[in-house]
Amino acid sequence: MHAALGAALTAALALLASYLVPWAARYPALLGTSRVWQPDPQFATLRDRCTALYPAELTGCEKFKIVGDNLFAACVADWDVRRRWFPPMRLFDRELGGREGAIRDRVYKLDLKTKELTRLDMANFPETLDFCAHGMDVLEVAPGEFSLFLVNHRRDGSVIESFKHKAGTREIVHAATYNGTTYGLYNPNDVFAIPVSAESPERENAFFVTNDHWFKDSTFGKLIEINLRLPTGSVFYHSASTGFHKVLGGLANANGIAGFQPASLTSPAPRNTLFVAAILDGRVTAYNYKPGAVLSADGLTKLKAFNLDIIMDNLAVSADGKWLYMAGHGEPQTLPQHFAAPEEVASAGVTYRVSLTELGGHFGTRGETGESRVEKIVVDRGGVFGNGSTTAMGDDDRNKFWLSGLTFKGILECDLLAPRKDADVSADYEDEEE
Ligand SMILES: *[C@@H]1O[C@H](CO)[C@@H](O)[C@H](O)[C@H]1NC(C)=O
Ligand SMILES: *[C@@H]1O[C@H](CO)[C@@H](O)[C@H](O)[C@H]1NC(C)=O
Repeated sequence: MHAALGAALTAALALLASYLVPWAARYPALLGTSRVWQPDPQFATLRDRCTALYPAELTGCEKFKIVGDNLFAACVADWDVRRRWFPPMRLFDRELGGREGAIRDRVYKLDLKTKELTRLDMANFPETLDFCAHGMDVLEVAPGEFSLFLVNHRRDGSVIESFKHKAGTREIVHAATYNGTTYGLYNPNDVFAIPVSAESPERENAFFVTNDHWFKDSTFGKLIEINLRLPTGSVFYHSASTGFHKVLGGLANANGIAGFQPASLTSPAPRNTLFVAAILDGRVTAYNYKPGAVLSADGLTKLKAFNLDIIMDNLAVSADGKWLYMAGHGEPQTLPQHFAAPEEVASAGVTYRVSLTELGGHFGTRGETGESRVEKIVVDRGGVFGNGSTTAMGDDDRNKFWLSGLTFKGILECDLLAPRKDADVSADYEDEEE
């Protein structure tokens, strides 16, 4: 009896230890206590090659998305409002400190070639409705026609709003509100809209959305989830014909979500890979999805996990499909203090990019157990690039890099690499105008 009990206890303890020890061992790396505060050498002088675009307008753009030459961004309109109501940062003052009127954050379009900035009017979105911006995605669905999916943390519940935009206009037209509350989607964070392409003309507004917490508006509950890194985040799928379905669970703060996009509307369908960040474990997992059949038995299958030493935030796949960019938090524990006192406490920013080509081009068919090359682009303890970085994107062909975040003033645009001293630099730059 005793021996059996002892064996059972030992087995239970071993099981617990095999889970708890690796779990606990991740804390120092994720909290930055063992971090070497240096980017890779080729990016050491990156900050000197950056300009903050529109620092007065492009404020606190948590997410931006580049489609061709257009950068779309969802940005903070009023800091006083943002510091009172922003559920992702556990700020729940519904009275907004006694302010009248709705929350009205802003959506911008920036032409990366001409640098013309357009604030996109929400002409048909009632002025009495809140628009509190967070994650978003943009697709080109027909030449010059864009579909936007924006997370909106309204005070009466968080939803995903869909808007349409036509090139040449200065507005986005509200098309639909997707409310997944009854399915448990209380805390939408970011969206990946399934691309439309010649071979995959998915035209029913199909998207994936991450749900970062289980608790809705309990500050204490959310703090427990964060500090214990509880696997209570999930991913939902939505399409016109299926409605909302929870398709993934058990993620420690499901946050960034991204996938491949076709180079143009006439390009063949891109690889159907979905990347999901469980940020409190510093992990990004790649899945294969079947457009139009995500809910079928093998509609969403796991390919590979990438384990990193940062609390990443949003994810972005470069236009050439070669890199997965992730911006995030080097010392996440200081982010709330920074948000409360931005002029006094910095919030360390880290940007990595993970190679998507060096495992063989096809996820799930070969090489998927190997490690991928990771490049450390920004490792910025003092917030020199900006504070609370959340979205990064790069373009090797244009030699550009863009960075934004929770309290950034302007979106940073940088030359990714310094001109090579020994090479014919002018030849490289001529290609750029093509
Ligand atoms: C979403 O649906 C829930 C449940 O029906 C409802 O209580 C809530 O008000 C809705 N939210 C919005 C913003 O429409
Ligand atoms: C980041 O925050 C720190 C501390 O408040 C501040 O000194 C620094 O100027 C901020 N960075 C930028 C780019 O504004």
